[in-house]
Amino acid sequence: MEQLVTSDFKLGIIAGGQLGKMLALAASRWDIQTYILDSDASGPASTVCTCFVRGDYADFRTVYEFGQLVDMVTFEIEHVNIEAMQRLKREGKRIHPDPDVLAMIQDKGTQKQFLRRHSIPSPAFALYEHKEQILYAIDDGSLQIPFVQKARTAGYDGRGVVLVRCKSDLATLLDGPSLVEDLIDTEKELAVIVARNHQGHSACFPAVEMVFNADANLVEMLISPAQIDEDVERKATELARQIAEASGVCGVLAVEMFLDRSGDLWVNEIAPRPHNSGHHTIESAVTSQYEQHLRAIFNLPLGSTDLKQPAVMVNILGERGHKGRVKYQGLTESLSIPGAKIHIYGKRNTWPFRKMGHVTVLAPDMETARQRAIKIKRLIKVQSCQDPE
Ligand SMILES: Nc1ncnc2c1ncn2[C@@H]1O[C@H](COP(=O)(O)OP(=O)(O)OP(=O)(O)O)[C@@H](O)[C@H]1O
Ligand SMILES: [Mg+2]
Repeated sequence: MEQLVTSDFKLGIIAGGQLGKMLALAASRWDIQTYILDSDASGPASTVCTCFVRGDYADFRTVYEFGQLVDMVTFEIEHVNIEAMQRLKREGKRIHPDPDVLAMIQDKGTQKQFLRRHSIPSPAFALYEHKEQILYAIDDGSLQIPFVQKARTAGYDGRGVVLVRCKSDLATLLDGPSLVEDLIDTEKELAVIVARNHQGHSACFPAVEMVFNADANLVEMLISPAQIDEDVERKATELARQIAEASGVCGVLAVEMFLDRSGDLWVNEIAPRPHNSGHHTIESAVTSQYEQHLRAIFNLPLGSTDLKQPAVMVNILGERGHKGRVKYQGLTESLSIPGAKIHIYGKRNTWPFRKMGHVTVLAPDMETARQRAIKIKRLIKVQSCQDPE
């Protein structure tokens, strides 16, 4: 680390959203220079990085040239041009997590095959080329409703995921290559963030519970620690550790899981980057997921993942019917609630359900944290300056 902080080290971060912003802020505490690549020059990370590079991270040339500017590349988003990352790696650029891990998870089909190969419990699945194949499979009895269909590539925040519970839902099937998997009768959705460094040391944050907004299929509330039995907690962190080991990842890796009504755990998906299920760690854990990511990619000792206090995080989402230049209400009042930590990402424009910020509430006990978070959720409104549509 001594050399790192005195060497004008340049860390390239691909994408400048809220995760990039929080990662750049953590890096700046160690005086590491951060270069951010994003096409939106006014995005969240643009105000906190050392150097902002405007460009499309899906484009080969842009990513390749960005890699030349920095000493190491990391990323906070998955839809990055993989050919450029692989070429940079071949030419000796340090890239963490490894582009091979990124390539594996970019396609949900290969990600599921990876989980199956390593005997990680995950909903049973089959791959399809187009939706007609799915309809034939239903007709010939080889596929039964209910199931979940997922686009193999380019899905995020629930886009690219279709829950088929009854025949009429078939009208919403996605075209193009997809996977179809068993619909899990979910009691809770959990996430575990694990970090692993080059020496193979790993550390897990305690599992969190993710509560979803059914309309937007977005996480509405995070509960840390998850309110689950010790046995489930142990299995969840063990699964995360196993995945980190099997993938050989360097950096943080988020593992989303379903806890079903029989008490079994199923891995939903994995993301080798800081994750929204770890926002609360900034205030509630001894080490934040962002600092932990830096420790892991620089092969430093991993930090303590102990929690300081129970925490509930609520997302600040754009309101339905509001689109355009953003205005907020209720922030000042929310600050009067004990333990409330407000994060505004700095996005200029809002639209329905856009993630504009979050609030983490710390309290001596979970019920108090939850009540205060619910109050804040009601207080804060994200609207546009124009009249609602
Ligand atoms: N097999 C399943 N059984 C039950 N519910 C599911 C299943 N797969 C997905 N879901 C529901 O859909 C949500 C989104 O699915 P998934 O996490 O695969 O998509 P995503 O677009 O990558 O989401 P995100 O970017 O928000 O993590 C899950 O969090 C869960 O609520
Ligand atoms: Mg998900």
